[in-house]
Amino acid sequence: MGPFTCLFEKEMPSILVVDDLQSNLELMEAIFVKEGFRVYSALGANAAIRMFNKYPVDIAVLDVMMPGVDGFDLCSKLKDITGKRFFPVILLTALNDRKSRIKGIESGADDFISKPFDTSELLIKIKSLLKLKTLQEELDHSENIILTLAVAMEARDPYTKGHSTRVSKLAVDFVTFLDLPGKDREEMKKAGILHDIGKICLNESLLRKPGPLTKEEIDMIKRHTILGEEICKPLVSMRRILPAIRHHHERWDGKGFPDRLGKDDIPLMARILSIIDSFDAMVSVRPYRDRRSAKVTLETMRAERFNGQWDAELLGYFLEMMEPLVEKGYKSDG
Ligand SMILES: [Fe+2]
Repeated sequence: MGPFTCLFEKEMPSILVVDDLQSNLELMEAIFVKEGFRVYSALGANAAIRMFNKYPVDIAVLDVMMPGVDGFDLCSKLKDITGKRFFPVILLTALNDRKSRIKGIESGADDFISKPFDTSELLIKIKSLLKLKTLQEELDHSENIILTLAVAMEARDPYTKGHSTRVSKLAVDFVTFLDLPGKDREEMKKAGILHDIGKICLNESLLRKPGPLTKEEIDMIKRHTILGEEICKPLVSMRRILPAIRHHHERWDGKGFPDRLGKDDIPLMARILSIIDSFDAMVSVRPYRDRRSAKVTLETMRAERFNGQWDAELLGYFLEMMEPLVEKGYKSDG
């Protein structure tokens, strides 16, 4: 073996340890420093929150029994601060305290360790949670690369620039308006960005052709739905949005593409996308016409509400959400 062991210095994982007893903190600090961790020790919850906001922490070990804000509340608070990012928390509980464990799960804890704790057991749990965190971050990175590529792709064309970002944002607003769960908002955000990703496989001059298009050209463009699904299929984290990508051009009356699905057979996410996609296309500039105002667009959509293109009930909710916004001067960025 040569003189070098690796190209990059390994980053030290950082751990936040919280207890109301100084002696316990010192004990844990000694254990973790020896194992190569950067340790942030906090005497109580308030100090912990201050440190958490100040330093990048990878994992936290919290004592449950603390005066004032206890380990459960602190766990929920830390999880709130990190938002959707995976942040592992281990709670130190009394031996076999079943009630505490249930409460711990409710507060979002990822694992437990009984006091007095076994050092090697605690270290094994910490290492496996850190591994999970790394995997989660790698997944987030690869997802972000794809989302960034999708945005970069459409930015090549001044007529589509910003379309998917606007669709994504408005679709999330609509899903929030419909009071659908947070998980659905995340999926909708991705589906909005990626719904036209299949166009990456199509010839640019075809996409920019002002028209009229031949039947073959129209069929080719329609294929972007299937191509988009094919592109995203290998990614496990995109699995739930595949139906939205494939079916965002289906019509309520079954005359859409690619599968001529109709009514409730069209997945809800695709029906939502279809409305938002149409709205954004109408308020944006196109090679063959100027942009329409949001007010006129909504009037047109209301007039055509039952013409078979969209889910009329869903469109009703969309108009309910948009009309007051437009009255207040809503502007799309297109
Ligand atoms: Fe499309």
